[in-house]
Amino acid sequence: YKRVTVKSLIEMKQLGEKISMLTAYDYSMARIVDGADVDCILVGDSASNVMAGHETTLPITLDQMIYHASSVIRGVQRALVVVDLPFGSYQSDPKEALRSAIRIMKESGAHAIKLEGGKEIKESIKKILNAGIPVMGHLGLTPQSIYKFGTYTVRAKEEEEANKLKEDAQFLERAGCFAIVLEKIPAKLAKEVAQSVSIPVIGIGAGNGVDGQVLVLHDLLGMTHEFNPRFLRRYMNLYQEMTQAISSYVSDVKSRDFPSDQEQY
Ligand code: KIV
Ligand code: NA
Repeated sequence: YKRVTVKSLIEMKQLGEKISMLTAYDYSMARIVDGADVDCILVGDSASNVMAGHETTLPITLDQMIYHASSVIRGVQRALVVVDLPFGSYQSDPKEALRSAIRIMKESGAHAIKLEGGKEIKESIKKILNAGIPVMGHLGLTPQSIYKFGTYTVRAKEEEEANKLKEDAQFLERAGCFAIVLEKIPAKLAKEVAQSVSIPVIGIGAGNGVDGQVLVLHDLLGMTHEFNPRFLRRYMNLYQEMTQAISSYVSDVKSRDFPSDQEQY
């Protein structure tokens, strides 16, 4: 295997090769995802929802993100590992943003960080980049701002928000970010943004005109089932399969079928 770097992702865009990205939050899953040749693994703050059961991404802490990230890193040999800066760890001032980014890089061994927003966090992005830490941007439906939006519906449908998003994407490229995630925006707008910047644009609910796709691993596997956004393709129904497997175990224990003569010493 050859390690994926921020440079190889940019080259993939130049060559027209689509980038695959998936989340992982722990060692065992990261090993499987990396072994399946996913280009980029995101230790997303969606761990707040998926792993911890919170309703939003806001409660997860920097220490918790570092725990998830260091577990993932130990399972990865090939993919580029990007870690979300959690809510509250970078918005208040650029020095704190840099400190948070450094902690993630140092304590987890991650390869890059991601944060949500455009020009409003300009100084923080520049400080982190100046320290030599690769930064991935995230625009559109940025879940850390859910209470500002009020709903999880498609963003940037109106011209004003679409124009700001286009400007922010240009800004992120100029600042030196190596890629941008666009979440839940019209496909036409996402395509326009992808064509207007030279860095890869990775979409989730942003159509097929971008340079790569990202999904939450547990959604793709069908381990979650309580929501069904249009952009989500479920490749398995693990919720059902796991429930059946676990029920069989329970009934085998109750019926004394397990363990059998061969399954004991
Ligand atoms: O936290 C996350 O999983 C994300 C992706 C959905 C892009 O930020
Ligand atoms: Na995130």
